[in-house]
Amino acid sequence: MDEYTLKIEHLSSGFFTERGYVPAVDDVSLTIGKGQVVGVVGESGCGKSMIARSVMGLLKYPGRITGGSIALAGRELTGLTDRQLQPIRGRDMAMIFQEPMTSLNPVVPVGRQMREALLLHEDMSRAAAREEVIRMLSHVGISEPEKRYNAYPHELSGGLRQRVMIAMAMICKPKLLIADEPTTALDVTIEAQILRLIRDLSRETGMSVLLISHNLGVIAQMCDKVYVMYAGRIVEQADALTLFDRCAHPYTRGLMDSVIRLDASPRRLPAIGGVVPNLLRLPAGCAFAPRCPHAGEKCRAERPELDQIGPGHWCRCFEGRRS
Ligand SMILES: Nc1ncnc2c1ncn2[C@@H]1O[C@H](COP(=O)(O)OP(=O)(O)OP(=O)(O)O)[C@@H](O)[C@H]1O
Ligand SMILES: [Mg+2]
Repeated sequence: MDEYTLKIEHLSSGFFTERGYVPAVDDVSLTIGKGQVVGVVGESGCGKSMIARSVMGLLKYPGRITGGSIALAGRELTGLTDRQLQPIRGRDMAMIFQEPMTSLNPVVPVGRQMREALLLHEDMSRAAAREEVIRMLSHVGISEPEKRYNAYPHELSGGLRQRVMIAMAMICKPKLLIADEPTTALDVTIEAQILRLIRDLSRETGMSVLLISHNLGVIAQMCDKVYVMYAGRIVEQADALTLFDRCAHPYTRGLMDSVIRLDASPRRLPAIGGVVPNLLRLPAGCAFAPRCPHAGEKCRAERPELDQIGPGHWCRCFEGRRS
């Protein structure tokens, strides 16, 4: 058994478009240990969801994995056919999305949807499956689970729907839960509850979590380890304490400053000057150089490597300080 629930090595994936290859994820390596909550943070378009879709095997044409490896509990996933991936999705890894309405079937009561998901992967009677679904609904904090079992998605509030989606993802006790912006559509109090729920479930069951967010505040509350992405690449990685105490990359610093400034409305985009570069025309040097207050000659000419600058702390910057 591999020590990591998820081990991504040198993953590259992108889109083959008429205008050329769009490198959405470029040479990304990332590990999640058992029971760990690992965050990926970065601005819109930096490739966060592409990592999630690559792991889940949900990349659709013209998107494709172009290199690297993805191992789930030691089993290589790249190269598997959709048919081979089908039983792994749901049972060993599950994903929750930003908007539950897009992944819940609107015409089937939520309890029955969950029961079907369970019966697909587990050999059990319908009655036992129903019991298990009700137990799980109650476990994610849904009151009167017997009654909610028969509710249609539109009859539930946004917070309840999100809980149902988490319950649905958790029903087969996956080793890995991928949560892609799981709370962006919710108001702040529900957001806090949902995040606490994911965190508690992970602690109780040893489930590993990949949490994707553009919100550093959310990441800070939740994660053991954090990867910061910019233009398809990891630019900094560290355990959460180190990152929030002494981040080294100017981009991470920019994200941090914008969280502090925008504390009252954390959903607004970080206020870093300039825009994310077009992936089709990345600058020759560091991709962040055009927006970086510290960029020099070298940064514009050469691409920095991801260097270790402290224990468990890596940074892709010529100017990055040692932690
Ligand atoms: N069908 C497509 N063809 C070409 N490029 C695409 C396509 N879909 C997505 N991309 C590009 O892939 C890159 C990564 O997208 P991704 O969805 O992973 O971003 P993200 O970090 O999840 O952003 P967000 O925070 O907005 O969800 C983006 O720059 C996007 O423009
Ligand atoms: Mg996304």
